[in-house]
Amino acid sequence: MRVVEGPLQAPFVLPFEVQDLGMDDPQQLSAAGLGEVMAAASPEALEQVRIKYLGRQGLVTGLMRGLGALPADARRDAGARLNALKDALADAVAARGAELARAARAARLAGERADVTLPVSSDRVGRIHPISQTIDEIIAIFGEMGFAVAEGPHIEDDFYNFTALNIPPEHPARQEHDTFYLPERADGSRLVLRTHTSPVQIRTMRAQPPPLRIIVPGRTFRCDHDATHSPMFHQVEGLVIDRTTHMGHLKGCLIEFCRAFFGIEDLPVRFRPSYFPFTEPSAEVDIGCSRSGGELRIGAGADWLEILGSGMVHPQVLRNCGIDPDEYQGFAFGMGIERVAMLKYGIPDLRTFYESDLRWLRHYGFLPLDIPSPVRGPLR
Ligand code: DAH
Repeated sequence: MRVVEGPLQAPFVLPFEVQDLGMDDPQQLSAAGLGEVMAAASPEALEQVRIKYLGRQGLVTGLMRGLGALPADARRDAGARLNALKDALADAVAARGAELARAARAARLAGERADVTLPVSSDRVGRIHPISQTIDEIIAIFGEMGFAVAEGPHIEDDFYNFTALNIPPEHPARQEHDTFYLPERADGSRLVLRTHTSPVQIRTMRAQPPPLRIIVPGRTFRCDHDATHSPMFHQVEGLVIDRTTHMGHLKGCLIEFCRAFFGIEDLPVRFRPSYFPFTEPSAEVDIGCSRSGGELRIGAGADWLEILGSGMVHPQVLRNCGIDPDEYQGFAFGMGIERVAMLKYGIPDLRTFYESDLRWLRHYGFLPLDIPSPVRGPLR
């Protein structure tokens, strides 16, 4: 069947005079047929018209059947003309069908039309939790410095969580960690919920040859619960191992991070001698703040706030991972994610992070369609 492109033009012209057919009422039949085709308002209505004229019991089909009664001469001539009538109606049906399909598509597209330049209605989308947001920001900043993200299991054994990190069985740090232990195994050992992200340092150094530059954001667990402690919390660990890495790299990297994270270019950063079993020397990192008028403000001021622990990786830790400390050295750091999120976004109570309170999330959460940037203040 020939499909006629373009809108159907009325009147649709038959290629002959119907009365030439010499049969009852064909003129009326063709005019009526074409009229009904053009008037069909839906594909279903059009199909009904097609069946009425061209179907097996159709009117045109009936005329064709009547041809047999005509004398031979007249039959050939009338047959040709009836065929032309049938083709003309079929073409008209096809053309009208295409026109209806085009109109239906145009109507559907008009209904689906959306103005993508309109601003997002913030009440209709959910919010990104401040912990996820903070992790994204930390990854973005260290990502720009060439750090890759590494992960490790939440359930650890004693070796990765303590021993390989130079925390032997009787070491006081074990008590300080308020460890959650799993039930004793057949050999008397007990798995633990990792008390920090530092075991992933060990896993990474044992799995990949140096140089290494990784951060490890993830969940950690300690048996502790008050306004500043939760039994499940998050840390981000950092580890850099190379042949010539030194304390200057540690300081430069962490100063750069603190200033980028808090979005304060001249944020004072202080390195204070400290002790961790897995680093030597060790330093805690403080940022400048002021507490005048009972309000905490990050930036230049009279006070200091501790935000992370760091140090040069202890030679024994390197040896525990099969790395020769005479050839390689590096630095590591660890930071509490809730703590820096609370400071950056002014969230006063750590417990609220895990209360699943939608009003809290609407207040402190972030819009998923916001323009990404490493440094971003809360959206209201
Ligand atoms: N693991 C320490 C903690 O949970 C944090 C830490 C301090 C990690 C110093 C480090 C580091 O990698 O060098 O308190």
